[in-house]
Amino acid sequence: MALAVMMVALNLRAADSPREHLSLDSNWKFHLGDDWPSALHLDKAGASSGPAAEKFNDAAWRTVDLPHDWAIELPFDSSSDKNHGFKPVGPGFPKNSLGWYRRTLELPVEDSGKRLWLTFDGVFRDATVWVNGWLVRRHEGGYYPFREDITDVVKFGGKNVITVRVDASKFEGWFYEGAGIYRHVWLDKTAPVAIAPDGVFVYTVFSNNVPTNKCDIKVHVILDKQTHDHASLSYQIINPDGGSVLTSKPIEGTRTNFFLDSIRFGQNPETVRSWPYYFKAGESEKFLWSPESPRLYKLITTVSVDGKVIDQKETLFGIRTVGFDKDKGFMLNGKPYELYGTCNHQDMAGVGAALPDAVQDFRVKRLKEFGCNAIRTSHNPPTPELLDACDRLGMLIMDESRLLGSDSENLRKWEDQIRRDRNHPSVAIWSVANEEFAVQSTPQAGNVARTMQNLVKSLDPTRPVTYAAPQGDTFDGINGVIEVRGWNYHPGGDMDKYHAEHPDQPNVGTEQASTVCTRGIYADDKTRGYVSAYDMRGTQTAERWWSYFADRPWLSGGFIWTGFDYRGEPTPYGWPCVSSHFGVLDMCGFPKDNFYYYQAWWTTNIVLHLLPHWNWAGKEGQEIRVDALSNCEEVELFLNGQSLGRQPMKRNSKLSWQVKYAPGTLSAKGYNGGQLVAEQKVETTGAAAAVQLTPDRSAINADGADVSVVTVAIADAQGRVVPTAGNKISFTLEGAGKIIGVGNGDPSCHEPDTFIAQPPVKRLPVNTWRWQLVTLPAKGALVPEYAPEFADAAWNTIKAEDHGGMVLQEGETGVFRAHFNLTEAELANPGAQVRFGSIDDRGWIFVNNQRVGESSDWSAQPVYDLKKTLHAGDNVIAVGVRNDSGTGGLEPAVNVELVGQPVAVGWSRSVFNGLAQVLVQATKDAGAIQLTARTAGLPPVTTTITTQSVPPRPSVP
Ligand code: GAL
Repeated sequence: MALAVMMVALNLRAADSPREHLSLDSNWKFHLGDDWPSALHLDKAGASSGPAAEKFNDAAWRTVDLPHDWAIELPFDSSSDKNHGFKPVGPGFPKNSLGWYRRTLELPVEDSGKRLWLTFDGVFRDATVWVNGWLVRRHEGGYYPFREDITDVVKFGGKNVITVRVDASKFEGWFYEGAGIYRHVWLDKTAPVAIAPDGVFVYTVFSNNVPTNKCDIKVHVILDKQTHDHASLSYQIINPDGGSVLTSKPIEGTRTNFFLDSIRFGQNPETVRSWPYYFKAGESEKFLWSPESPRLYKLITTVSVDGKVIDQKETLFGIRTVGFDKDKGFMLNGKPYELYGTCNHQDMAGVGAALPDAVQDFRVKRLKEFGCNAIRTSHNPPTPELLDACDRLGMLIMDESRLLGSDSENLRKWEDQIRRDRNHPSVAIWSVANEEFAVQSTPQAGNVARTMQNLVKSLDPTRPVTYAAPQGDTFDGINGVIEVRGWNYHPGGDMDKYHAEHPDQPNVGTEQASTVCTRGIYADDKTRGYVSAYDMRGTQTAERWWSYFADRPWLSGGFIWTGFDYRGEPTPYGWPCVSSHFGVLDMCGFPKDNFYYYQAWWTTNIVLHLLPHWNWAGKEGQEIRVDALSNCEEVELFLNGQSLGRQPMKRNSKLSWQVKYAPGTLSAKGYNGGQLVAEQKVETTGAAAAVQLTPDRSAINADGADVSVVTVAIADAQGRVVPTAGNKISFTLEGAGKIIGVGNGDPSCHEPDTFIAQPPVKRLPVNTWRWQLVTLPAKGALVPEYAPEFADAAWNTIKAEDHGGMVLQEGETGVFRAHFNLTEAELANPGAQVRFGSIDDRGWIFVNNQRVGESSDWSAQPVYDLKKTLHAGDNVIAVGVRNDSGTGGLEPAVNVELVGQPVAVGWSRSVFNGLAQVLVQATKDAGAIQLTARTAGLPPVTTTITTQSVPPRPSVP
């Protein structure tokens, strides 16, 4: 018997439920540039123009899949913002800061009567969204999700158009933020009565917040659009172990205790249910969620009306407790649990802010390798897929808001964030804000933080709240009202004093370290923008902050700045350095030496690591500092077999020797209780002899989204990575996949992360126009004056004094004609279109007597597809124009654009200190991907990644 809490009164199946949760990520059209500055019309509903209008020709726009970040596609530019990684986007770069996305959406007639929601997980930033020309949403914040009910404005049984204008001309943070629809987009279809978006909250409560053999499972459900009199709610819980924990008694009580809630609308907008769940005595840990044992339960909530299922939703949750103790620090499942945390931005080599879900998994796994058990989503709400990965893989989350604020807008966003994220067992702590320097010590900031904290408590009774305070022993303002005192930096300062003065307030290291190290670099180099990986010059070193925190359990451990390097905030140097060096891992996730410091003190593995590398030709006889990062009680170092001394290791520290360089083997032995427990060596390598390609996963899903992260290494003849290699590698791919990005972790590398296949566009100016007044029939019906052969030689020309072609008086109609010539070769281009400046007020456009479109907005700069209307030789464009008011006409600066085949791009990247990375994404075809790497002087190498067929991800085609 499955250990599910089976409901038997009704046979409720998900298939009965009309709910569909569909990805809208594929097949968007994208255009960069503010070419339609007046597309937004605020005067009349549905009146917006240009790409915002339903009828707009986006045929020449690039096709992109989401998530998409156009900022990484731009070249580096030393005149742009350092903190944002020297990408020419944002303030001062209007041309690169405005992006347009369009997508069509077919809705079958059978959907009519359903309710449709459009959800954006995050757009950077300032999004304006239209559906079929209707303005449906304006949303500014670059990190908050937003959702709109679009049922009223869609057409069932036909084509619909979604347009999104993204304005990234303002920054929100002081780090790389990307630009565009950089998180997922979803279409949800439900019955008219359905569970509200984020309308299920499930959590567990143990008495005294300490797991015993019984908890209460509590469920809150909100139904939306109450067009019925009544509905019934039922619940089912699936145990993560299936049938494997047969001894437990899953649910106490009779069916009616927890099964059916009859809802009368108008009375209980929120239905609250609670029932006890018993574990076998002494076995509660088998049921609990923790980073070490991420056990997920599933709640299935079913809504029915008159016995018919009308909605069903699955919600994953975990059974666990979190809290803080003023003396013992952070508590997980009733026990002290040191937070080995890292702060991280959503940014990755190759893809910028647009992380595929598989890359979230990759990053969480990398962090776990050095013992990290918690992520702070600095300084903004995360994407939900990061939380999913953390639920599944086991990682705690400090979930941070973007800004401190108790204005209604900020509170609404904060509420959205909490409602969206509160089912995730990974989410353990809320953070109201980070380093609000301007206000944090004022009584007003205290008031605002209290309001935000109270909102948390009203929506989520289970989790503590903190604020990332860059302050010493100040108790004024936020620190005095916040539940848990957060510490950004300050170890060795006045933490002990603060703790003595406020002994009842728990503490946590919200942000620590800020070490600056470049992978594989062992001397600062300002010119190249590199910092030594010996870890000597951060705000604090790893050893400095961690040894302080480790001695003080009441501090709960903390979150280092940062787990991964990210673009922007190059520190301490600027250009040519474009990325930060704070990470334990570089931008690709390759470990720096500090990785092993943390692994030594944050895991129970036996760790022994030596630095630097041992390729120092030219430095023979010179002293080189050698560090051992280890948790062994003693470490002995050898050079070419000769002992250089054995040293005891102090807890949470590291060891150093000065060693006269001679090529060969530097090795170390680690001892515990006098016994040899670990050996490690670093060898001087030979010259580069081979390229190695190593996928993190050699079989991925053929779902059009999954990604294999391929490590590229330059190795010597014995297969050892050459730590100084910088070979430029080119990549080709064949089969069921594509390359989506490349990187190498070099914070000063200006090579592109992504290579876009742009179609060439040849412009033919068509600016010799003739016109004459013609009486035009309504609705643009044909008139003889549109015909190519119509004699127009005697018509008026457009003269300099004609105000840019505005020759029609109020109420006049006329026809404008121009000729252009095409060769057979030009005609062979795959695309052809005509781009107008202004047609004022209304226009009907004919090419060779075939209608190609109409225009009703003088500011729209319309573009029409010509492909089907052209022939070699003379072609004629004729535009009928009606001027309704003021002056009007046709601006003669018109271009015919011939769009060629996208030029194939060659992907390439140099390795940095021996390593680079390629992100390879599967198509939807099962098969194989062959990735080949080539570099001058070495044989090419190919790796094969298989793509296995999986049930298609529910998505809109
Ligand atoms: C902190 C800040 C982080 C980052 C870091 C660099 O004060 O919260 O966002 O800027 O400094 O050291």
